[in-house]
Amino acid sequence: MVYRLGLIGYPIEHSLSPWIHESFMNQVRVNGSYRRIEISPDTNFQDEISMLKQENLNGFNITVPYKQKILPFLDQVDPGAADIGAVNTVCVKDGEWIGYNTDGMGYLRSLVEEYPEIIKQDKVHVLLLGAGGACRGIYHAFVNAGFTNVDIANRTIEKAEEIALLQGGGTVTEVFTLEEATRLTGRYDLIIQTSSVGMKPETDTSIIPLNQIKKGAIVSDIVYQPIKTAFLQQADDLGAKLHYGHTMLLYQAQYSFEIWTGKRVPIGEMDRELKTILE
Ligand code: ATR
Repeated sequence: MVYRLGLIGYPIEHSLSPWIHESFMNQVRVNGSYRRIEISPDTNFQDEISMLKQENLNGFNITVPYKQKILPFLDQVDPGAADIGAVNTVCVKDGEWIGYNTDGMGYLRSLVEEYPEIIKQDKVHVLLLGAGGACRGIYHAFVNAGFTNVDIANRTIEKAEEIALLQGGGTVTEVFTLEEATRLTGRYDLIIQTSSVGMKPETDTSIIPLNQIKKGAIVSDIVYQPIKTAFLQQADDLGAKLHYGHTMLLYQAQYSFEIWTGKRVPIGEMDRELKTILE
């Protein structure tokens, strides 16, 4: 079988997804191609999608600004993606478009790869900072994985409350303002910065001042550049174990590729290669 894959979004000129998926294909000897399908926001999205339906793709990723806009064009939506309200992966099966979201699970896989002890402990107290789309996916993945305490702090507390409605199973969630969270950081085993604050290293400061952390805590920032953001720098100064955001890119792709082909490709050296590309 020859897989016809691609990426829909705008702008995607600099996306690393083609590099990642072509590398996956080479590693597990899957034949196929992965191409950029740029859809400008000036064009009629519905017309573009109708044309794409004629192309017999086997699957595609979908990124900004279309992760929600694609929903009405899908034949089925995976329950997880429906909860999150956004799709980043579409698998075409017997002509039907099925939507998934691999971002949150990709993040969790990347974290567990580096710190496997995090899922072996009984009670891990997690704090998510920020309450945008990325937080939503990560929160969902942690709830699904059975984490018992996952709190959310955000500048606009209502957005954190909205995400906490996804709560299920045995997860308990408290929501806080950023000011409240600043006083509580010493409680947590894992603190994840999920907003875009830090993406502009020259001007961005930390989303909250980090003055205290629990001994042995992991502090993570999903900003995709492999840089020590102001937030991570503070954590490092306090002796935290650090987790960088760029590996999430590889693991969300790993999960998408698995959905399309049934093969889970080991990340191995790609982590280091990606770091070099991004630096
Ligand atoms: P997404 O994850 O959907 O791409 P985003 O634009 O990165 O969204 O924003 C994610 C979160 O970052 C939002 O919750 C936002 O806070 P608000 O809900 O109050 O808007 C938070 N955020 C963005 N810039 C921020 C800043 N300078 N300080 C504090 N929080 C910020």
